[in-house]
Amino acid sequence: MVDDLLQNIRRIAVIGSGTMGSQISMACALAGFETTVVDIVDEALEKAEASLRSRMERDVSKGRRQQADVDAAFDRLSFSTDSDQVVSGADVVIEAATENLEIKRKLFAGFDQAAPEHTILATNSSTIVSSQVADATNRADKVCNFHFFNPALVMKAVEIVPNDQTSTYTIDVMCAVAQRLGKHVVQLHREIPGFVANRLMNALRDEALNLYQAGIASYEDIDVAARDALGHPMGPFELMDLVGIDVSYFIDMAEYDQTGQDAALPHPVLKEKYETGDYGRKTGRGWYNYEN
Ligand code: 3HC
Repeated sequence: MVDDLLQNIRRIAVIGSGTMGSQISMACALAGFETTVVDIVDEALEKAEASLRSRMERDVSKGRRQQADVDAAFDRLSFSTDSDQVVSGADVVIEAATENLEIKRKLFAGFDQAAPEHTILATNSSTIVSSQVADATNRADKVCNFHFFNPALVMKAVEIVPNDQTSTYTIDVMCAVAQRLGKHVVQLHREIPGFVANRLMNALRDEALNLYQAGIASYEDIDVAARDALGHPMGPFELMDLVGIDVSYFIDMAEYDQTGQDAALPHPVLKEKYETGDYGRKTGRGWYNYEN
């Protein structure tokens, strides 16, 4: 069944070579797809390649992967700044660019022009549901969300979300792609901001922020409770630092923009933290200090 659905899916274009896009492209190449990752400037692609090479070296040195598999994956992975050319040869496009609706609508209109008729256009966004970009194309039936989790090479789930025009065939193909990537699928029946996993994560995060704000416990101890009482791999404050305090803030703002509900607004403590500009691991400082 998976083989049948993937018969015509050989080449994947990943748009955006940031934290998510780079690891998504590596996951696709490791799974056997001819993959090209696209970004605007060469420097971004060089940075992505260097980070993937060091990540793969580490995996090989720790016996998690075979050198031959990694070499074969790098042979299948290329880097380009020419989006139209790459998309014109792709069977699936996975967009992992900036979380900005205007930019995404322009990108999807461009993909629609450049891509062959059969090509599926997916977005990794968890904040922008695909109905918001589908109408920038003439193929809403082939547009959906295909949402990975950070770090995408490690986290085992992918959420697949249809808009109300997405065809069953598109969802079946994307489920097959996810399975080939070794991911477990969380299939939503319809769109909701934040999907399932981020809604669960944010509910825990907001309660953690309430407890911290009320002075009930330190953020470090709240993380200990999540890790060592509940068995979560990370506490909610550590997770905010991994995901990015800016990303957490924007996810909430996007939900507020879509629903208009005050309850969706970022928690005041999250807003305060966001305004300091300390976004977590990527800036070297968030709730915790990563500078050393
Ligand atoms: N990239 C790739 N691989 C990574 C990684 C990264 N950034 N971080 C860790 N790993 C891998 C490595 O193989 C690492 O081993 P190594 O450092 O020896 O090479 C291995 O995972 C184990 O890592 P650690 O020893 O540092 O620590 P853990 O065992 O705690 O694992 C973790 C790290 C996998 C990140 C784990 O803590 C975890 O699962 N945390 C929760 C992550 C999570 O919830 N992610 C979802 C966030 S929500 C989201 O992304 C949605 C978006 O829309 C916001």
